[in-house]
Amino acid sequence: MHSNDGPYLSVEDLVVHFPTADGIVKATDGLSFTLGRGKTIGVVGESGSGKSVSSSAILGLHRGSSAQVSGRIVLGGTDLLMLSDEEMRLRRGKEVSMIFQDPLSAMHPYYTVGNQIAEAYLVHNDVSKKAARARTLEMLERVGIPQPDRRIDDYPHQFSGGMRQRAMIAMGLINDPGLIIADEPTTALDVTVQAQILDLLQDLQREFNSAIIIITHDLGVVAEMADDVLVMYAGRAVEYGPTKDVLTHPQMPYTWGLLSSVPDVQGDTNAALIPIPGNPPSLLNPPTGCAFHPRCVHRSKVPADLCTTTLPELLPGSQGPGHTKRCHLADPDELYRTEILPEIMPDLIVED
Ligand SMILES: Nc1ncnc2c1ncn2[C@@H]1O[C@H](COP(=O)(O)OP(=O)(O)O)[C@@H](O)[C@H]1O
Ligand code: SF4
Ligand SMILES: [Mg+2]
Repeated sequence: MHSNDGPYLSVEDLVVHFPTADGIVKATDGLSFTLGRGKTIGVVGESGSGKSVSSSAILGLHRGSSAQVSGRIVLGGTDLLMLSDEEMRLRRGKEVSMIFQDPLSAMHPYYTVGNQIAEAYLVHNDVSKKAARARTLEMLERVGIPQPDRRIDDYPHQFSGGMRQRAMIAMGLINDPGLIIADEPTTALDVTVQAQILDLLQDLQREFNSAIIIITHDLGVVAEMADDVLVMYAGRAVEYGPTKDVLTHPQMPYTWGLLSSVPDVQGDTNAALIPIPGNPPSLLNPPTGCAFHPRCVHRSKVPADLCTTTLPELLPGSQGPGHTKRCHLADPDELYRTEILPEIMPDLIVED
């Protein structure tokens, strides 16, 4: 179905800018990553860092708006940005589909859950309504809706939050897309349901061999789900690499901040919670140099005011070419080991 040369998805230098009355919002500014079939990339970062805008661009959702989109989004050998609106419409929901955070707003309140899922199937398949309904029942059952034959004609508000998210997943997967984008799919759910939904996504991924982009502000979700992680700040990747590497040898202060501000990423129950000071920047007027510099307590360790004047390139650190970071610090490993780890994981420090 797709070319075997190169990765299944390759996003290259993606730029999404929104011209507004106040200036240009640089929501995504030169983002690149790759993803293979059956693999998961976790995109993390605080609210407003450009996660949703970047993934909406993959779905072509900015078409018809004033957004300026450039770069390449190559899926299965085809650059999606080169397709006509009609060609993109045919692929959306079939080759790439999106699972949103809030199914209640993504689903239409006046149509039954079953009809909406069946519609997603009918749009892309030349089958009877009866066959679409049968396929819908099968999917509802597959995603763990109890008694699907009795729930298929319910309206979205009659489902619990967890059940709605399952139905949303059924709708997203009904055409067996190669690429699934899950945008904060469990943020609105309680911890137990969240774990069930993530398990379900992983089961379905194994079954369908899908590539998944999971967007989250939660590094715990990344630790559980993702092969690779891409940390975003102010519309750019600031750290990118295999999840295990990034979580055990994080190479830049923003990632350290994210790690310090979530509990239990590495199963350490005594981990301290240290929020990142300050707020994410406006993407209308992002800070000069390293966009994280106004919030970074380590910038005094970098000589010649580089942090405020010069944007660091995304370059490999000490962990080899597959793990890149955007930071001027000369020896982040040493700093992390001696200053950061003792604060966030006191249990790991051996007294001598
Ligand atoms: N249509 C739009 N017009 C102008 N700015 C937008 C538009 N959509 C998103 N933005 C801005 O782009 C930035 C990134 O948004 P988003 O990708 O939704 O962040 P998040 O990382 O929370 O998903 C935000 O500053 C947001 O306000
Ligand atoms: S480049 Fe400077 S300001 Fe940016 S994260 Fe590194 S040390 Fe901090
Ligand atoms: Mg978002």
